[in-house]
Amino acid sequence: MDKSIQVVWITGASSGIGAELARQYSTQNVNLILSARRMAVLLEVKESCMGHSKIEILPFDINDFDSAPNQVEKALSFFGRVDVLINNAGISQRSLILDSKFEVFKKIIEIDYLGTVALSRAILPHFISQQSGHYVVVSSVMGKFGSPYRSGYCGAKHALHGFFDVMRMEHQKDNVYVTMVCPGFVATPIALNSIQGDGTALGIDDEATRKGLDVTYFVRKMIHAIDQKKWEVSIGGKEKLGVFLKRLSNKLVHNVVIRSRVR
Ligand SMILES: NC(=O)c1ccc[n+]([C@@H]2O[C@H](COP(=O)([O-])OP(=O)(O)OC[C@H]3O[C@@H](n4cnc5c(N)ncnc54)[C@H](OP(=O)(O)O)[C@@H]3O)[C@@H](O)[C@H]2O)c1
Repeated sequence: MDKSIQVVWITGASSGIGAELARQYSTQNVNLILSARRMAVLLEVKESCMGHSKIEILPFDINDFDSAPNQVEKALSFFGRVDVLINNAGISQRSLILDSKFEVFKKIIEIDYLGTVALSRAILPHFISQQSGHYVVVSSVMGKFGSPYRSGYCGAKHALHGFFDVMRMEHQKDNVYVTMVCPGFVATPIALNSIQGDGTALGIDDEATRKGLDVTYFVRKMIHAIDQKKWEVSIGGKEKLGVFLKRLSNKLVHNVVIRSRVR
Protein backbone atom coordinates (compact mmCIF):
# COMPACT_ATOMS: atom_id res chain seq x y z
CA MET A 1 0.00 0.00 0.00
CA ASP A 2 1.25 3.49 -0.92
CA LYS A 3 1.14 5.51 2.31
CA SER A 4 1.31 8.80 0.39
CA ILE A 5 -2.16 8.20 -1.00
CA GLN A 6 -4.68 9.59 1.49
CA VAL A 7 -7.90 7.70 2.19
CA VAL A 8 -10.96 9.93 2.53
CA TRP A 9 -14.24 8.47 3.85
CA ILE A 10 -17.33 10.58 3.07
CA THR A 11 -20.74 10.04 4.68
CA GLY A 12 -23.84 11.42 2.95
CA ALA A 13 -22.05 10.85 -0.37
CA SER A 14 -25.19 10.01 -2.38
CA SER A 15 -26.36 13.60 -2.81
CA GLY A 16 -25.55 17.31 -2.66
CA ILE A 17 -22.33 18.28 -0.88
CA GLY A 18 -21.17 14.69 -0.28
CA ALA A 19 -21.58 13.65 -3.93
CA GLU A 20 -19.70 16.75 -5.11
CA LEU A 21 -16.93 16.08 -2.55
CA ALA A 22 -16.57 12.61 -4.10
CA ARG A 23 -16.38 14.05 -7.63
CA GLN A 24 -13.77 16.69 -6.74
CA TYR A 25 -11.65 14.40 -4.53
CA SER A 26 -11.64 11.76 -7.30
CA THR A 27 -9.47 14.10 -9.40
CA GLN A 28 -6.90 14.31 -6.59
CA ASN A 29 -4.42 11.70 -5.46
CA VAL A 30 -6.75 10.11 -2.87
CA ASN A 31 -8.65 6.87 -2.43
CA LEU A 32 -12.31 7.22 -1.51
CA ILE A 33 -14.92 5.42 0.54
CA LEU A 34 -18.48 6.59 -0.13
CA SER A 35 -21.30 6.03 2.38
CA ALA A 36 -25.03 6.77 2.59
CA ARG A 37 -28.10 4.53 2.72
CA ARG A 38 -28.89 4.29 -1.01
CA MET A 39 -26.49 1.83 -2.63
CA ALA A 40 -27.78 2.40 -6.19
CA VAL A 41 -27.32 6.16 -5.95
CA LEU A 42 -23.84 5.76 -4.46
CA LEU A 43 -22.95 3.65 -7.51
CA GLU A 44 -24.21 6.45 -9.78
CA VAL A 45 -22.04 8.95 -7.89
CA LYS A 46 -19.07 6.61 -8.29
CA GLU A 47 -19.75 6.46 -12.05
CA SER A 48 -19.83 10.26 -12.21
CA CYS A 49 -16.35 10.56 -10.63
CA MET A 50 -13.99 11.47 -13.47
CA GLY A 51 -10.60 11.12 -11.79
CA HIS A 52 -8.33 8.14 -11.15
CA SER A 53 -9.15 7.53 -7.49
CA LYS A 54 -9.95 4.04 -6.29
CA ILE A 55 -13.49 4.24 -4.96
CA GLU A 56 -15.24 1.82 -2.58
CA ILE A 57 -18.92 1.92 -1.65
CA LEU A 58 -20.02 1.29 1.94
CA PRO A 59 -23.79 1.74 2.37
CA PHE A 60 -25.30 1.98 5.85
CA ASP A 61 -27.81 3.90 7.93
CA ILE A 62 -25.99 6.35 10.25
CA ASN A 63 -28.92 5.92 12.63
CA ASP A 64 -27.82 2.33 13.29
CA PHE A 65 -25.36 3.32 16.03
CA ASP A 66 -24.54 -0.25 17.07
CA SER A 67 -23.18 -1.04 13.60
CA ALA A 68 -20.63 1.81 13.69
CA PRO A 69 -17.65 -0.36 14.83
CA ASN A 70 -18.53 -2.86 12.11
CA GLN A 71 -18.68 -0.09 9.45
CA VAL A 72 -15.25 1.17 10.58
CA GLU A 73 -13.85 -2.36 10.30
CA LYS A 74 -15.23 -2.65 6.75
CA ALA A 75 -13.89 0.80 5.82
CA LEU A 76 -10.41 -0.17 7.04
CA SER A 77 -10.52 -3.43 5.08
CA PHE A 78 -10.63 -1.54 1.75
CA PHE A 79 -7.31 0.36 1.83
CA GLY A 80 -5.87 -0.56 5.26
CA ARG A 81 -6.31 2.94 6.65
CA VAL A 82 -8.52 6.02 6.79
CA ASP A 83 -6.90 9.45 6.96
CA VAL A 84 -9.90 11.76 6.75
CA LEU A 85 -13.46 11.03 7.91
CA ILE A 86 -15.91 13.58 6.49
CA ASN A 87 -19.02 13.48 8.69
CA ASN A 88 -21.43 15.01 6.19
CA ALA A 89 -24.65 12.92 6.38
CA GLY A 90 -27.56 14.92 7.74
CA ILE A 91 -31.15 16.04 7.47
CA SER A 92 -32.74 19.41 8.12
CA GLN A 93 -36.08 20.59 9.52
CA ARG A 94 -38.85 22.97 8.48
CA SER A 95 -41.31 23.23 11.38
CA LEU A 96 -42.06 25.45 14.34
CA ILE A 97 -41.37 24.02 17.81
CA LEU A 98 -45.07 24.05 18.71
CA ASP A 99 -46.02 22.18 15.52
CA SER A 100 -43.31 19.51 15.87
CA LYS A 101 -43.86 16.08 17.37
CA PHE A 102 -41.16 14.97 19.81
CA GLU A 103 -40.15 12.30 17.25
CA VAL A 104 -38.89 15.08 14.97
CA PHE A 105 -36.33 16.28 17.53
CA LYS A 106 -35.34 12.67 18.27
CA LYS A 107 -34.82 11.78 14.61
CA ILE A 108 -32.71 14.86 13.89
CA ILE A 109 -30.49 14.46 16.96
CA GLU A 110 -30.00 10.79 16.10
CA ILE A 111 -28.98 11.36 12.48
CA ASP A 112 -27.18 14.72 12.72
CA TYR A 113 -25.47 14.28 16.09
CA LEU A 114 -25.49 10.78 17.57
CA GLY A 115 -24.78 9.03 14.24
CA THR A 116 -21.72 11.22 13.75
CA VAL A 117 -20.61 10.67 17.36
CA ALA A 118 -20.98 6.87 17.03
CA LEU A 119 -18.91 6.69 13.84
CA SER A 120 -16.29 9.16 15.08
CA ARG A 121 -15.90 7.31 18.39
CA ALA A 122 -15.60 3.99 16.54
CA ILE A 123 -12.74 5.18 14.29
CA LEU A 124 -10.84 6.96 17.10
CA PRO A 125 -8.69 3.91 18.13
CA HIS A 126 -7.53 3.66 14.50
CA PHE A 127 -6.56 7.35 14.40
CA ILE A 128 -4.70 6.92 17.71
CA SER A 129 -2.86 3.81 16.56
CA GLN A 130 -1.72 5.45 13.30
CA GLN A 131 -0.98 8.68 15.26
CA SER A 132 -2.84 10.76 12.70
CA GLY A 133 -6.39 11.40 11.62
CA HIS A 134 -8.63 14.22 10.51
CA TYR A 135 -12.31 14.60 11.38
CA VAL A 136 -14.19 16.95 9.08
CA VAL A 137 -17.65 17.76 10.42
CA VAL A 138 -20.30 19.37 8.24
CA SER A 139 -22.21 21.52 10.68
CA SER A 140 -24.01 24.68 9.50
CA VAL A 141 -24.05 28.40 10.22
CA MET A 142 -27.11 27.27 12.17
CA GLY A 143 -24.72 25.33 14.38
CA LYS A 144 -23.52 28.78 15.49
CA PHE A 145 -26.79 30.71 15.82
CA GLY A 146 -30.50 29.87 15.79
CA SER A 147 -33.12 30.31 13.08
CA PRO A 148 -36.90 29.70 13.24
CA TYR A 149 -38.30 26.43 11.80
CA ARG A 150 -35.02 24.65 12.56
CA SER A 151 -35.04 24.21 16.37
CA GLY A 152 -34.04 20.51 16.37
CA TYR A 153 -31.55 21.02 13.56
CA CYS A 154 -29.91 24.00 15.31
CA GLY A 155 -29.73 21.96 18.53
CA ALA A 156 -28.06 18.99 16.85
CA LYS A 157 -25.58 21.13 14.90
CA HIS A 158 -24.67 23.18 18.02
CA ALA A 159 -24.05 19.91 19.87
CA LEU A 160 -21.50 18.82 17.25
CA HIS A 161 -19.35 21.86 18.08
CA GLY A 162 -19.26 20.95 21.77
CA PHE A 163 -18.34 17.32 21.11
CA PHE A 164 -15.61 18.08 18.59
CA ASP A 165 -14.07 20.89 20.68
CA VAL A 166 -13.45 18.19 23.29
CA MET A 167 -12.21 15.69 20.68
CA ARG A 168 -9.63 18.25 19.61
CA MET A 169 -8.53 18.84 23.23
CA GLU A 170 -8.29 15.16 24.16
CA HIS A 171 -6.51 13.98 20.98
CA GLN A 172 -4.30 16.81 19.81
CA LYS A 173 -1.53 14.71 21.39
CA ASP A 174 -2.34 11.96 18.84
CA ASN A 175 -2.16 14.34 15.85
CA VAL A 176 -5.92 14.19 15.45
CA TYR A 177 -7.31 17.27 13.69
CA VAL A 178 -10.86 18.58 13.57
CA THR A 179 -12.27 20.90 10.88
CA MET A 180 -15.77 22.21 11.53
CA VAL A 181 -17.41 23.31 8.26
CA CYS A 182 -20.36 25.71 8.61
CA PRO A 183 -22.20 26.09 5.31
CA GLY A 184 -24.69 28.86 4.70
CA PHE A 185 -27.26 28.16 2.00
CA VAL A 186 -25.95 25.75 -0.65
CA ALA A 187 -28.08 24.67 -3.61
CA THR A 188 -28.65 20.96 -2.86
CA PRO A 189 -31.76 18.81 -2.21
CA ILE A 190 -31.49 19.47 1.57
CA ALA A 191 -34.81 21.34 1.79
CA LEU A 192 -36.62 18.61 -0.17
CA ASN A 193 -35.33 16.03 2.31
CA SER A 194 -35.94 18.14 5.43
CA ILE A 195 -38.65 16.99 7.82
CA GLN A 196 -41.85 18.72 8.88
CA GLY A 197 -43.61 18.69 12.25
CA ASP A 198 -45.28 15.33 11.59
CA GLY A 199 -41.94 13.73 10.63
CA THR A 200 -42.63 13.51 6.90
CA ALA A 201 -40.29 14.96 4.27
CA LEU A 202 -41.06 18.49 3.08
CA GLY A 203 -40.73 17.32 -0.54
CA ILE A 204 -40.36 20.81 -1.99
CA ASP A 205 -37.44 23.10 -2.49
CA ASP A 206 -37.20 26.46 -0.73
CA GLU A 207 -36.06 29.75 -2.19
CA ALA A 208 -33.13 30.36 0.17
CA THR A 209 -31.60 26.97 -0.65
CA ARG A 210 -32.32 27.24 -4.40
CA LYS A 211 -30.58 30.62 -4.49
CA GLY A 212 -27.73 29.36 -2.31
CA LEU A 213 -24.11 28.87 -3.29
CA ASP A 214 -23.36 26.63 -6.23
CA VAL A 215 -22.31 23.28 -4.76
CA THR A 216 -19.21 23.00 -6.99
CA TYR A 217 -17.93 26.36 -5.75
CA PHE A 218 -18.83 25.52 -2.14
CA VAL A 219 -16.97 22.19 -2.21
CA ARG A 220 -13.89 23.75 -3.81
CA LYS A 221 -13.71 26.15 -0.84
CA MET A 222 -14.43 23.34 1.62
CA ILE A 223 -11.60 21.14 0.29
CA HIS A 224 -9.23 24.12 0.50
CA ALA A 225 -10.16 24.58 4.20
CA ILE A 226 -9.66 20.84 4.83
CA ASP A 227 -6.24 20.90 3.12
CA GLN A 228 -5.25 23.79 5.38
CA LYS A 229 -6.53 21.88 8.45
CA LYS A 230 -8.61 24.90 9.47
CA TRP A 231 -10.34 24.52 12.85
CA GLU A 232 -13.56 26.10 11.63
CA VAL A 233 -14.78 27.69 8.43
CA SER A 234 -18.06 29.38 7.44
CA ILE A 235 -18.80 29.26 3.72
CA GLY A 236 -21.91 30.98 2.42
CA GLY A 237 -23.52 34.25 1.39
CA LYS A 238 -24.53 37.08 3.71
CA GLU A 239 -26.08 34.60 6.17
CA LYS A 240 -22.58 33.71 7.35
CA LEU A 241 -22.32 37.20 8.87
CA GLY A 242 -24.62 35.85 11.61
CA VAL A 243 -21.65 33.84 12.91
CA PHE A 244 -19.69 37.05 13.48
CA LEU A 245 -22.70 39.01 14.78
CA LYS A 246 -23.36 36.30 17.36
CA ARG A 247 -19.87 36.86 18.79
CA LEU A 248 -20.68 40.55 19.17
CA SER A 249 -24.20 40.35 20.53
CA ASN A 250 -26.86 37.68 21.00
CA LYS A 251 -29.59 40.30 20.79
CA LEU A 252 -28.29 41.70 17.53
CA VAL A 253 -28.28 38.33 15.76
CA HIS A 254 -31.73 37.56 17.22
CA ASN A 255 -33.21 40.72 15.72
CA VAL A 256 -31.48 40.33 12.35
CA VAL A 257 -32.61 36.70 11.92
CA ILE A 258 -36.20 37.45 12.91
CA ARG A 259 -36.34 40.34 10.45
CA SER A 260 -34.89 38.22 7.62
CA ARG A 261 -38.00 35.96 7.75
CA VAL A 262 -36.14 32.99 6.25
CA ARG A 263 -38.26 29.86 6.23
N1 LIG B 1 -27.32 22.54 1.61
C1 LIG B 1 -27.31 23.44 2.56
O1 LIG B 1 -27.80 24.58 2.39
C2 LIG B 1 -26.67 23.11 3.88
C3 LIG B 1 -26.49 24.16 4.80
C4 LIG B 1 -25.91 23.89 6.02
C5 LIG B 1 -25.49 22.62 6.33
N2 LIG B 1 -25.67 21.61 5.43
C6 LIG B 1 -25.24 20.26 5.84
O2 LIG B 1 -24.54 19.64 4.78
C7 LIG B 1 -24.67 18.22 4.91
C8 LIG B 1 -25.02 17.64 3.55
O3 LIG B 1 -26.29 18.13 3.16
P1 LIG B 1 -26.71 18.38 1.63
O4 LIG B 1 -27.03 19.80 1.51
O5 LIG B 1 -25.75 17.76 0.72
O6 LIG B 1 -28.11 17.60 1.66
P2 LIG B 1 -28.66 16.31 0.84
O7 LIG B 1 -28.42 16.52 -0.60
O8 LIG B 1 -30.04 16.09 1.32
O9 LIG B 1 -27.70 15.12 1.33
C9 LIG B 1 -27.84 14.51 2.59
C10 LIG B 1 -27.02 13.22 2.61
O10 LIG B 1 -27.16 12.62 3.90
C11 LIG B 1 -27.47 11.24 3.74
N3 LIG B 1 -28.30 10.73 4.84
C12 LIG B 1 -29.47 11.24 5.30
N4 LIG B 1 -29.97 10.45 6.27
C13 LIG B 1 -29.07 9.42 6.43
C14 LIG B 1 -29.03 8.28 7.27
N5 LIG B 1 -30.02 7.99 8.16
N6 LIG B 1 -27.97 7.43 7.17
C15 LIG B 1 -26.98 7.69 6.29
N7 LIG B 1 -26.96 8.75 5.45
C16 LIG B 1 -28.00 9.61 5.52
C17 LIG B 1 -28.23 11.17 2.40
O11 LIG B 1 -28.08 9.88 1.80
P3 LIG B 1 -29.19 8.72 1.74
O12 LIG B 1 -30.53 9.36 1.63
O13 LIG B 1 -28.79 7.93 0.51
O14 LIG B 1 -28.99 7.94 3.00
C18 LIG B 1 -27.50 12.22 1.58
O15 LIG B 1 -26.38 11.63 0.94
C19 LIG B 1 -25.74 17.98 6.00
O16 LIG B 1 -25.09 17.64 7.20
C20 LIG B 1 -26.41 19.34 6.13
O17 LIG B 1 -26.94 19.56 7.41
C21 LIG B 1 -26.24 21.84 4.22
